[in-house]
Amino acid sequence: MFWLAIDRSAAMPLVRQIYLGVRSKILQGELRSGDRLPSTRNLARELHVSRNVVIEAYDYLLSEGYIESRRGSGNYVAEGVYLEQKTDMARVSPQYEDREQATEQPSGALIDFRSGIPALELFPRKTWGRLSQQVCKEASAEAFGYGKPAGSPELRTILCKYLQRSRGVCCDPRQIVITSGATQALSLIAKVLLTDKSTVVIEDPITHDIQTIFTAGGASLYPVPIDENGMKTELLPPGKRPGFVFVTPSHQFPLGGTLPIQRRLQLIRYACSEGCYIVEDDYDSEFRYEGPPISSIQGLDRDRVIYIGSFSKILSPALRLGYLVLPAALVERYQDAKWFTDLHTPTLEQLTLGRFIEEGQLERHVANVKKLYKKRRDCLRTALHRAFPGDVSILGSSTGLHFVAAFPGHSFTAEVVQKIREAGVRAYPVEDHTIVKGQHRDKIILGFGNVTEGDIEEGVHRLRRALANAPKLPLLDDGNDSSLKFL
Ligand SMILES: Cc1ncc(COP(=O)(O)O)c(C=O)c1O
Repeated sequence: MFWLAIDRSAAMPLVRQIYLGVRSKILQGELRSGDRLPSTRNLARELHVSRNVVIEAYDYLLSEGYIESRRGSGNYVAEGVYLEQKTDMARVSPQYEDREQATEQPSGALIDFRSGIPALELFPRKTWGRLSQQVCKEASAEAFGYGKPAGSPELRTILCKYLQRSRGVCCDPRQIVITSGATQALSLIAKVLLTDKSTVVIEDPITHDIQTIFTAGGASLYPVPIDENGMKTELLPPGKRPGFVFVTPSHQFPLGGTLPIQRRLQLIRYACSEGCYIVEDDYDSEFRYEGPPISSIQGLDRDRVIYIGSFSKILSPALRLGYLVLPAALVERYQDAKWFTDLHTPTLEQLTLGRFIEEGQLERHVANVKKLYKKRRDCLRTALHRAFPGDVSILGSSTGLHFVAAFPGHSFTAEVVQKIREAGVRAYPVEDHTIVKGQHRDKIILGFGNVTEGDIEEGVHRLRRALANAPKLPLLDDGNDSSLKFL
């Protein structure tokens, strides 16, 4: 029996209902290329409709190419129907799963140490609401038309001053392009600077998403290992002529190091000798808990560095607001790239953000949440040391919304991560973000920005239970167990 639901009381004609029903079975892969459809006579009998109704529905499917008719034999699902190559969910990457889960409702039971999520309950709804209402009432009529690809001039002027005082970024508002988050800034960089012959010299590990953005157009990656201070710049490859060097110097993702000045200068010298740019991704350095704030590399060489910032961590990832600060020579190309991608980032949100910064609300908000993040970070560190005395080391906890915990002798394979998940915790292996595999198997990334202290305690308790039953690996003494190097 060919199960198809039709609703006689619906306003939609029966022909269309049958057409849509069969089409959706094809698109969802329930009916595959070469499958035979029931005869029009049989389907009409099964659905208690006239045969002409089914014939008409099949005619639509035939004319749109979903099915084909074979003389004397019936109707079949056509070859090469788009969703015949439907994504095989078994092959979907863990990062895709993370993205899906990012939009799911919180499950309650599962404690999720996903990195880079700010305290969502602390979003300043009232102030943001007031300012966006103000913008809506007071903005000129032009604000409701098409804007400039670089973004609102008001926001760029305000942002320029904010970046000078908070990050030591040295620029003119004309060097700024407002983007839909740092992610779009990265995509625009790939679009403008890379071809399928390019090489990107990049920290290893680095987020899998960033690797994908850079390699999507065929460019290749040259991984440079990192240590507790970020990229090991003495290993930069001379003569490689890369499209650019990519770094997260204020807070390496994921291992958390801060690039010292000597390495910053070495990086600039390298970029000068190779004639390439440095891409500086400064995604969360506003949250620095120890030591003075670290200034940007951009402030050291504004012609060589493309600086990326984001409001995802300091305010909310839902806003999708980020920016590029560009060397003057590149500005026009990026404005074009932005225009031909999505014209511009939504103007009203940009204007609201401008007022939010100008009123001093952003700095107030950052100072407030930073206190909370510091408490959550301390709580997580203490809980881990208590639960795994002598068996855990913490890396890169001076800045940001996550740190890395290394458990020498453990290996966070997919099976172990699944066991941890069954114990009620989501934790994220560093290995998922490595280019050269096998160096960081004993480490997980633990985000604490959006996890309450109560959940942190409970999460670590569950993690201890899960790891107590996980098989331990013998410690390697060939230097491959990088946790030893980080202690
Ligand atoms: C290192 C790094 N860069 C950039 C981003 C992207 O942030 P956005 O939300 O601004 O696109 C992330 C996200 O977590 C990140 O970890």
